[in-house]
Amino acid sequence: MGTKSSLLIAIVIASISVYISLYWRKTELPKHYRDDNYFGVQNIKDGAKFPEDDKKIEKFTVNIDESVLIDLKARLNRTRVVDSIAGTNFAYGTNSETLKKVIDYWMNKYDWRAEEKRLNKYDHFTTQIEGIKIHFLHIKPSNPGSNKVLPLMLVHGWPGSFVEFYKIIPLLTTPKNGIVFELVIPSIPGFGFSEGGHKQGLNVGHTARIFVKLMKRLGHEKFYYHGGDWGAIIGDLAAKYFPENILGYHTTLLGIPTSPCIFIKTLIGYVFPNFIYENPAVESKMLTPLMDKLIFIIQETGYMHLHATKPDTVGAGLNDSPAGLASYILEKFSTWVNPSYIDKPEGGLFEKFTIDELLTNIMIYWSTESIVTSQRFYRETLPKLFGPENAILRLPVKKEVPVGVAMFEHEIYRFPKFVAKTAFENLIHYETFSKGGHFAAFEEPEITANDIKKFVARCIEAANKEDKEEK
Ligand SMILES: *[C@@H]1O[C@H](CO)[C@@H](O)[C@H](O)[C@H]1NC(C)=O
Repeated sequence: MGTKSSLLIAIVIASISVYISLYWRKTELPKHYRDDNYFGVQNIKDGAKFPEDDKKIEKFTVNIDESVLIDLKARLNRTRVVDSIAGTNFAYGTNSETLKKVIDYWMNKYDWRAEEKRLNKYDHFTTQIEGIKIHFLHIKPSNPGSNKVLPLMLVHGWPGSFVEFYKIIPLLTTPKNGIVFELVIPSIPGFGFSEGGHKQGLNVGHTARIFVKLMKRLGHEKFYYHGGDWGAIIGDLAAKYFPENILGYHTTLLGIPTSPCIFIKTLIGYVFPNFIYENPAVESKMLTPLMDKLIFIIQETGYMHLHATKPDTVGAGLNDSPAGLASYILEKFSTWVNPSYIDKPEGGLFEKFTIDELLTNIMIYWSTESIVTSQRFYRETLPKLFGPENAILRLPVKKEVPVGVAMFEHEIYRFPKFVAKTAFENLIHYETFSKGGHFAAFEEPEITANDIKKFVARCIEAANKEDKEEK
């Protein structure tokens, strides 16, 4: 037997045993994610009451101090770059030639004040929740006409920010086929203008609750939710913990659904794809060839291991060097957009984005010094997900919450419909797209906006039907 196949079999056996052992463990969600908590600066004694939040909603303007910009230029001007090996493109990470080009542009041509104007085109606010300042955009449609305005929250991930949604905002706030949204676009705690936790533990579960509180504070007891990356996992937990508040959950990424059944079906699908997949031509390629997918995931998730264990170590360097930060973040906007971009001279960075768009996202991390706190989000979350609280990832979203999945061709990992059905009891919408990658709304705003609308139309239809049946 070849090493490849023995390795494959070893992995299969190891995974089955891990899956089964996890599967038979706790089958209930840990309850504490529904409870209030406090992540502010004050020291709270065990059992003492949490301080009241200042519930005021304050207008916020993106306006970085001039001293930060001067300091940034001085740092960029002192960048030390090690030449890449000729012909390697992005195979060793961000290529030095591309990095030099970006640094030069950033230092000499990039106009942050113009970008600020663009960012301030929509209304930003902050409010305090559980002791920390949460930043968000709140955009109401200017011409809703006679259409009912639906509340929708959009949530970014890492290394993205609220800027990922700028292209999709006008598409969602303009009525089409009777659907128009009022948008709330928060920054995850510790990302950009949202404050990070001052004590340990602020993870996806707590963030789900904080965001539900935010929507309630804005008068939306019930709302739709769309997210990718961390935004997807936060939404997943919001749907699990607060199903009474979520009208529908739309995602471009699944967590990591685990059940022995998925594994067995995948193996069967290897031999009899028609038996397992609704659309075998597209879906059978999502999990296989297993070995290639596995190698790709290992190759692309080194950063995750680092963040989940020692985020502050690498963070110190990234927070101190704009070139280092750019290199670290840009690499993700290459292979996560399309894995084949690793072999393109500029990592394909400018295929989907302008240099200004990429730099503005980096500026959100740089100017707020939030790279370390954003990385801590993994440290607070992943050991729990794969450890004692694995039930929060493993248990499905219950049938009260309709779920829609949009699978883009180049998403880092994709799941066929049968897997999505095990993760979501009420999967009413599952679409695959032959293009687009990890940053769906940023890369393919039209497709993403249309898919959200299609999903929400289905949610409304299902709710109407249920109403009729009740009568
Ligand atoms: C960069 O440093 C050089 C040498 O110290 C200096 O002449 C130049 O003006 C600096 N450029 C910027 C944009 O600060």
